[in-house]
Amino acid sequence: MLEIKNLHARIAADGTEIIRGLNLTVKAGEVAAVMGPNGSGKSTLSYILSGREDYEVTEGDILYNGESILELDPSERAAKGIFLAFQYPVEIPGVATMQFLKVALNEQRKYRGEDELTTPDFIRRVKEAAARLQIDPDMLKRPLNVGFSGGEKKRAEILQMALLEPKLCVLDETDSGLDIDALRIVADGVNALRSPDRAVIVITHYQRLLEYIVPDSVHVLYRGQIIKSGDKSLALDLEANGYADIIDAAA
Ligand SMILES: Nc1ncnc2c1ncn2[C@@H]1O[C@H](COP(=O)(O)OP(=O)(O)OP(=O)(O)O)[C@@H](O)[C@H]1O
Ligand SMILES: [Mg+2]
Repeated sequence: MLEIKNLHARIAADGTEIIRGLNLTVKAGEVAAVMGPNGSGKSTLSYILSGREDYEVTEGDILYNGESILELDPSERAAKGIFLAFQYPVEIPGVATMQFLKVALNEQRKYRGEDELTTPDFIRRVKEAAARLQIDPDMLKRPLNVGFSGGEKKRAEILQMALLEPKLCVLDETDSGLDIDALRIVADGVNALRSPDRAVIVITHYQRLLEYIVPDSVHVLYRGQIIKSGDKSLALDLEANGYADIIDAAA
C-alpha cells in the first residue's frame, strides 16, 4: 500500500536534509510502528507524507497503491484516503468542530463520486463515533482544537479518522498526553479501524501503546533512515535496552 523508496528530503527554507535515504514498505492490513530517538525525523516524515510545502523531496519516491504521490497536493492525498494525525494538532479558530468534520467528510465523498451526507445522517454518524470515543458532544460545538486539552485534541483526531475511514493512517505520537483510560479508548478506536484493506503507521516512543495496538512490524528511524526493522519484539527490546546497540550496529 505504501512504498517509500530511498527518500531524501530537506527543509525548503534552508536546505537542511532531514530524511536521508529512507526505505519503508507497509502492506495493506498491516500496522507498522515507527520508533526512534527525538529529532530523528519521524514527524518530518509524517509532514512529507501529508504533502506539506515546507519540505522538498530531492531524491527517491513515495508510492501509494503503486502510484507516486509526490506531485499531489495535501487535499488530493486526503481524498485518496491518506490520513495524518499530527503530533501537534492544528487549531482552527472560528470553525466549529462539527462543521469542520462535515465539510471534510463531504469533500472526500464528492471526490470519490459519492453523494453528500444529509445533515441528520451526518449528525447521527458523528454522535455515534463521538460516543465510542467518549467525547462530550458539547465539545463538537467548539472551534476545532482551540482550547482543547492535549488529550482532547488527540481524541478529536481519532474522531476525524473514524469518520473519514481513510485507507492509510499515520498517527504521530497519538499516545502522548493521554491519561491511561484515554489511551485505551484511542487504541480501541484505532483497532476498530484495522482491516485487510487499510494500513496504519503508529509513531510512538513507548511500548505501552503497542500493548494495546499490537503492531505487525516495528521500524527504528534514526537520522532520517530506517536502521532496523523487526516484529513486535523489537519494541520490547528497545524498551529494555534503549537505542544505543542498534545505532552502533548500524554505524
Ligand atoms: N522547519 C524546520 N526548521 C529547522 N529544523 C527542523 C525543521 N523541521 C524539522 N527540523 C529538524 O529536523 C529534525 C527532525 O525533527 P522531527 O520533528 O521530524 O523529529 P522527531 O523524530 O519527530 O522527534 P520527536 O521524537 O522529538 O517528536 C530535528 O532535528 C528538527 O529540529
Ligand atoms: Mg515528532
